[in-house]
Amino acid sequence: MENPYIPYLAVITDIRDETVGERAIKTFRIAFQESSVSKNFTYQPGQCAMLGILGKGESMISINSLANDDYLQFSVMKMGKVTSGLHECEVGDAATVRGPYGNGFPVDDWKGKDIILIGGGIGQAPLRPVINYVLNRRKQYGKLTLIYGARAVSDLCFRKELLELKKLKHLNVHLSIDKKEDGWKEFVGFVPDNLLKVHPSPKNAIAVTCGPPIMIKFVIANLLKLGFSDEQIFTTIENRMKCGIGKCGRCNVDNLYACKDGPVFSYAILKNLLNWSSG
Ligand SMILES: Cc1cc2nc3c(=O)[nH]c(=O)nc-3n(C[C@H](O)[C@H](O)[C@H](O)COP(=O)(O)OP(=O)(O)OC[C@H]3O[C@@H](n4cnc5c(N)ncnc54)[C@H](O)[C@@H]3O)c2cc1C
Ligand code: FES
Repeated sequence: MENPYIPYLAVITDIRDETVGERAIKTFRIAFQESSVSKNFTYQPGQCAMLGILGKGESMISINSLANDDYLQFSVMKMGKVTSGLHECEVGDAATVRGPYGNGFPVDDWKGKDIILIGGGIGQAPLRPVINYVLNRRKQYGKLTLIYGARAVSDLCFRKELLELKKLKHLNVHLSIDKKEDGWKEFVGFVPDNLLKVHPSPKNAIAVTCGPPIMIKFVIANLLKLGFSDEQIFTTIENRMKCGIGKCGRCNVDNLYACKDGPVFSYAILKNLLNWSSG
């Protein structure tokens, strides 16, 4: 068996600024150096990988490219050593990738149901492949709704793409920003409040929320108010990770490992594991 700690060599082929500022987000496209690696590197929506740069280290990042893309895409918020190092990279620089890791979203179990995606800030990254997965199998799912917000227009991740998604017939997109800005015609306020305004029905539905922990807490509370059961609510957790393969014990949640058993969990499971209640 190959050593699971040895990463694949890759090169950065494209870099795009998503947002600016102290916690800027950049989107990186990465191509493996060996074509046999890219052929065999398959992944599900919600899975992640250890993205690394030489001399800085590795960070666990959600893979947000789509099934047919011939590159891997990661959107990275500048936080500390590794992510700042990535932000300093240029097209053509070397990178490393280990993975894919994690369970991903159980998208096939959700067939026949309405899907409500609720994201905030960088939380749109893991939701992006879910949107695409459902749009590519449109008839196999019910209504698809995206409720997404950021602090300001300039903080909306994948802004251009979101505006394109708004034009689609088979997807309802509800955007928000925290404070009023000139020219903004959509909701002003926090994501959990926009959720209550949109008021999706829990009947035969699944709700998925990704974003800052405080947003997730209030989104779950509001989903419960709307009548969603614990089993109908899914989220991802971002415990710090090192090995990514359930060996180092860095990311454990009770008797489970976020890197292997997660990062996607239903609220029913998470509530018991973390003694966490948003109700
Ligand atoms: C499953 C999973 C998916 C993720 N997906 C993405 C993604 O798509 N895009 C993205 O930008 N980030 C994502 N993250 C978070 C990312 O891994 C961390 O921000 C990154 O590892 C920080 O590394 P650093 O060396 O730059 O910062 P460090 O120097 O290690 O830390 C800087 C600051 O960031 C905080 N921090 C570090 N790691 C985490 C973490 N895991 N969660 C919350 N705070 C953290 C530290 O407490 C510290 O305050 C994900 C994390 C996990 C576990
Ligand atoms: S990151 Fe090592 S056990 Fe999860």
